[in-house]
Amino acid sequence: MRDLLARAAELAAAYRASLAERPVAPGGGCTGFGGPLPRNPSPPSEVLEELARAAEPGLVATAGPRFFGFVVGGALPAATAADVLVAGWDQNGFNAVLSPAAAAAEEAAGAWLKELLRLPATASTGFVTGGQAANTVGLAAARHHVLAEAGWDVERDGLTGAPRVRVVASEERHATIDRALRLLGFGTRAVEPVAAGPQGAIDLDALESTLAAGTGPVIVCLQAGNVNTGACDDLRAACELTHRHGGWAHVDGAFGLWAAANPATAALLDGVELADSWACDGHKWLNVPYDSGFVFCARPAVHAEAIAYRAAYLVGAGEVSGMGDLTLESSRRARGFAVWAALRELGRDGVAELVDRCCRLARRFAAALADGGAEIANDVVLNQVLVSFGDDARTDAVTAAVQRDGTCWLGGTTWRGRRYLRISVSNWTTTEADVDRSAAAILRLAGSAP
Ligand SMILES: Cc1ncc(COP(=O)(O)O)c(C=O)c1O
Repeated sequence: MRDLLARAAELAAAYRASLAERPVAPGGGCTGFGGPLPRNPSPPSEVLEELARAAEPGLVATAGPRFFGFVVGGALPAATAADVLVAGWDQNGFNAVLSPAAAAAEEAAGAWLKELLRLPATASTGFVTGGQAANTVGLAAARHHVLAEAGWDVERDGLTGAPRVRVVASEERHATIDRALRLLGFGTRAVEPVAAGPQGAIDLDALESTLAAGTGPVIVCLQAGNVNTGACDDLRAACELTHRHGGWAHVDGAFGLWAAANPATAALLDGVELADSWACDGHKWLNVPYDSGFVFCARPAVHAEAIAYRAAYLVGAGEVSGMGDLTLESSRRARGFAVWAALRELGRDGVAELVDRCCRLARRFAAALADGGAEIANDVVLNQVLVSFGDDARTDAVTAAVQRDGTCWLGGTTWRGRRYLRISVSNWTTTEADVDRSAAAILRLAGSAP
């Protein structure tokens, strides 16, 4: 193993070193994985070299400084090295019996996360795969709680015959909320959509009248960080309204929850601590390797009752603090080590600086593009920028040209019926020079677009 792991680390490090200058999008096809299932075993060292060769043409430099598509970070050094160790240790993150080390790391990292994100110290923390899983677990806890309050045991009796649960959610919710609602048996038609304001934050008058228009168990889905604009709902007012109507407030803060960790943006999340559950990602703005997300719940017992399972052979199950009681997975990668390492590497000030720098770079990007004649459609309050180059066809043509060019990568989106380039600055290695070079490339390509 020693030589093999050293070689794997060398290959990974060489790849990382190439990120600043390699084309962001891969140039060719990825054909090296095909062929018939081998009949005979192969030496691991040969497998490793073959794997690296086969993957190379299809690797996208998402971890690099000029990938601005989706909302994607690039794993920090200590977090990357921690995950190399995690693979080597091969620990099962199910509970403290299987890995006392994993349990201790998750407990420590969970406490740090809650402190940074300004959440109640008493909340439970589940180390899930990402925002989708965090929304699903948070809404499962919500489902459990609002139905229990109505005298219904949803884990035992399911939804058939249950009191109808109202799901009130902003029209600007992320699509993973809808998938979570499907998976939880509510169906997407259960959603009572609430209008959002010009930047995408929930309209409080509309929320109030929607809540007042019905009765019964109610879950309200709020958002910190609109995936297009970065806008954050007024969480204090929205949570207070929700609670006045006896509801459960869930906040999807896949990337936006990190605004709380930066003094300059924390006001956007005023009142965040009032919610009942929160979803957040590690692999976006914290720059932790995939996959890494967090679900927090203000009522740890509700969290565990909604998610835990029991089996006679499970030593240690049944404790609220069991890691497997808080996530959808049973056996899983010990995700807490990399999170602990990222937080240890950055510290409180480093996290604040990372968030602040990305916001500053997003504003710089917007200013450079606006100077070059582009239209910026959103208030750049966080790390997201929406850019138009005129009509939809021209904007899409510029997006496609940027993707082909390879200097940087960003995606297209539709916002309020119009097409935009969408920029997300989320990577710890991005510099002012990367932003200037990318903005210049985008403007050059826009100049020659039809
Ligand atoms: C607001 C929001 N919620 C949820 C998600 C889904 O997160 P993940 O891809 O980690 O499941 C995203 C992803 O961009 C998001 O921006």
